[in-house]
Amino acid sequence: MDRLPAFYPLNDFDPLMKGMVIGGMGIVHVFLAQFAIGGGMLLCYFQRLASGGGDPLARRFIDGYFKALVLVSFVLGALTGVGMWLTAIQVSPRTIGVMVDEFHWVWATEWTFFCLEVVAGYAFYRCGARLSDRRRMALLAMYSVAAWFSLFWINGILSWQLTPGAWVAERTVWSGFFNPGFWPSLLYRTASSMTIAALIACIVINAMPGFSSDERRALIRRASNLMLPMLFMPALAVWYFLTMPADSRSWMLGGSPAMSLFLAGAAGSSMLLGGYALVGLVRQKLYINGATATTLTALALAATACGEFVREGSRKPYTVRESLYANSITPEEVKIARVAGWARHDPYPLPDESEYPNPQLVLGGKGFRLQCSVCHTLDGANGLTHLVGTWSLEQRRMNLAMLQHTKPFMPPFAGDAEELEALVQFLGWHGAGRPRNWTMSNDAAALSSIRAWLDEAGTGPGTVPAAERQGRR
Ligand code: HEC
Repeated sequence: MDRLPAFYPLNDFDPLMKGMVIGGMGIVHVFLAQFAIGGGMLLCYFQRLASGGGDPLARRFIDGYFKALVLVSFVLGALTGVGMWLTAIQVSPRTIGVMVDEFHWVWATEWTFFCLEVVAGYAFYRCGARLSDRRRMALLAMYSVAAWFSLFWINGILSWQLTPGAWVAERTVWSGFFNPGFWPSLLYRTASSMTIAALIACIVINAMPGFSSDERRALIRRASNLMLPMLFMPALAVWYFLTMPADSRSWMLGGSPAMSLFLAGAAGSSMLLGGYALVGLVRQKLYINGATATTLTALALAATACGEFVREGSRKPYTVRESLYANSITPEEVKIARVAGWARHDPYPLPDESEYPNPQLVLGGKGFRLQCSVCHTLDGANGLTHLVGTWSLEQRRMNLAMLQHTKPFMPPFAGDAEELEALVQFLGWHGAGRPRNWTMSNDAAALSSIRAWLDEAGTGPGTVPAAERQGRR
């Protein structure tokens, strides 16, 4: 590999940073998909209760719940699923490319299970009412097994991004797929799917007409049984955490304040939810009304959101650990870019390029787009204008040249000294309100210090301890 990565057109979502756009879409999608998976299991459980006329209540509930499931998971799930692809290819096409290269047939397999899920679900929707209990059970089981297996397949790819394990050396599909995070993440998501399905069942039970309050109480008691696997979630979370790379763990434990905050959010909302569900619903057999059920579901969404955010964020500085940096360049390509430059080869113009006073600023703008914009905006979320606002020119040059040591969750700078100076100039010009005139900097001494800092920083990921970092600045 002695080439720079291919260039793709990228979209800008300012003032949201790109990572947040994918994250936001992903969180909604994950929540809906988990509802679909847990929903299948819940329906099988109720169908078993209903079989042979055993529990007519359960039978009536199934039909109401199934409508909610089909509507929400098929329609919204599919919309956000396709939405994921659309946003991902606008933000990080290279990552998608690597995932396709490595796991082509896994994607195909996942898709066939998804098809089976949709076919079984649709057959139940159309004919369920007329079928015998045995056939109903067969369709629901098929739906639920297919839904769970679509999680099984996608889970291998997603957990590989964070904990590629033996794949880094072996590069085989299965060493990547059954990576160290595979099982804890699969089991954790399964338990969380069941919880989400049970909570939504409580909303549906309250919303469905025609049940007396005793009947609702009886149904809620049964649905709550699906929350029991939640008991294992703390242990599964710890197991998952222990499979993660040490630096990822350190981001969560204070290395990155945002990560720690969201981890606390995930743990806090899960504990609140778990406490209420297990003590109130399962043990004390409390009745919950629609409003409480909705609040608990919102809490589950918050826990999912924080958890996914932490999982995505703790991969930093990579999108595929050890192999691909978050800004779509590999460690080997960084070395090439240090000599040959990167941004200067980007063929795609900036949106408002003609308003830039000089070509150096255009180069800097492209550098920002290629290297920084996946995690930073200029003035919005994680905005660079504010982050470098108080730094002198000299500090900017040094801290950007040593980017991976400035904050070890950032990748190393991928470009030569001229490109770095261009980026520094671009940030200065943008921060000054984009004046019409801006002189090109042409400072040989500055360039040679930048070169020295780039060399000192090296091209590997940063590991400098916090104390030393503070001292250097
Ligand atoms: C993988 C994501 C990621 C990439 C890529 C990235 N950064 Fe960052 N950067 C962060 C995060 C997260 C922070 C922490 C922000 C905070 O502390 O509030 C940060 C902080 C910073 C800071 C403030 C550092 C400090 O010590 O206060 C600067 C300056 C910065 N980044 C510049 C850049 C530049 C320039 C680029 C592109 C060449 C870049 N970053 C690429 C994630 C990234």
